[in-house]
Amino acid sequence: MMRSTLLFLSRRRWLRQWMETSSFAQPLTRRFIAGRTLDEELAVCRRLEAESILATLDHLGENVKSVEESRASRDSYLRILDRISGAGLRATVSVKPTQLGLALGEDLCLENISALVERARLLATAVEIDMEESEYVERTLRIVDAVHQRFGSVRAVIQAYLFRSEGDIARLNAAGIPVRLVKGAYREPHTVAWPRKGDVDTSFLRLTKQLLEHGTDPAIATHDAAIIAETTRWAAVRSIPPRSFEFQMLYGIRRDLQRQLVADGYRVRLYVPYGDAWYPYFMRRLAERPANVIFLARNLLRA
Ligand code: FDA
Repeated sequence: MMRSTLLFLSRRRWLRQWMETSSFAQPLTRRFIAGRTLDEELAVCRRLEAESILATLDHLGENVKSVEESRASRDSYLRILDRISGAGLRATVSVKPTQLGLALGEDLCLENISALVERARLLATAVEIDMEESEYVERTLRIVDAVHQRFGSVRAVIQAYLFRSEGDIARLNAAGIPVRLVKGAYREPHTVAWPRKGDVDTSFLRLTKQLLEHGTDPAIATHDAAIIAETTRWAAVRSIPPRSFEFQMLYGIRRDLQRQLVADGYRVRLYVPYGDAWYPYFMRRLAERPANVIFLARNLLRA
């Protein structure tokens, strides 16, 4: 109930506008968002690399409303790629297809993403294509496939809560496209996704094994300690080398687990968001854990 309400609110434009421009909200977002500027973001990534933690940079934004806005997002990501390379960081970037125009047209989005992936390949890094609501999945995978064929240097995201994901992973594995597996963060109808957390967790573990066995450089993206423990146990039994895959987590969540995995010899990459358009991302983080809302409310009362 709380999750649905927060996900519903995450799409309200009036609330978004108010929250993103109000000064009281800024200190509250600090836990999940690295900063407002690229300089702040790069400083965080540098600090993480010093601790042997890799990053994927997200310039917050989604659902652009015009071709010009989509091109501005593309240009901002081109600058980010150049700055990552100039700073000598081993980071990738993560982009949302609707931030690059998918809701306006598939060709527009393909053109924007192609420019990013081409630059990423030149700079020896990669673009990770986040997955959004289920209505975009088919189009997003078509784009991933097209850019992979032309340039490589791309990673797809698959959501374990969708019924279709096993088939999608089989297709991506056969094409040699790296996958980031996540549970899924959007409000989906029961006709396309498992509504119960237990079923999503079971699906996540099954798909993890499918990826570790047949995938290319897979990323297992979760903070779920039980799933992570089962993944490392299962990989060891199958003699799958710890560095042939990576764990990914979100900036600000389960720092203890991130450091433990690094100490145990696993590759860990954090998803590090920055920018002014933080509201929908922030609301999805609250929806994942109701305790975050209580924590937030306490801070608001104290302010
Ligand atoms: P689960 O929700 O079961 O949480 C397990 C434990 O992790 C909790 O008990 C708690 O300790 C901790 N935890 C989880 N979320 C927390 C939070 N918000 N605050 C505090 N603690 C928390 N989704 C999507 O639809 N498309 C995408 O492209 C991506 N991309 C992405 C990249 C990366 C690197 C990650 C880690 C996640 C995503 N996601 C995503 C989000 C994903 O779908 C999912 O919503 C979150 O990862 C939360 O699910 P967990 O797997 O952590 O499990």
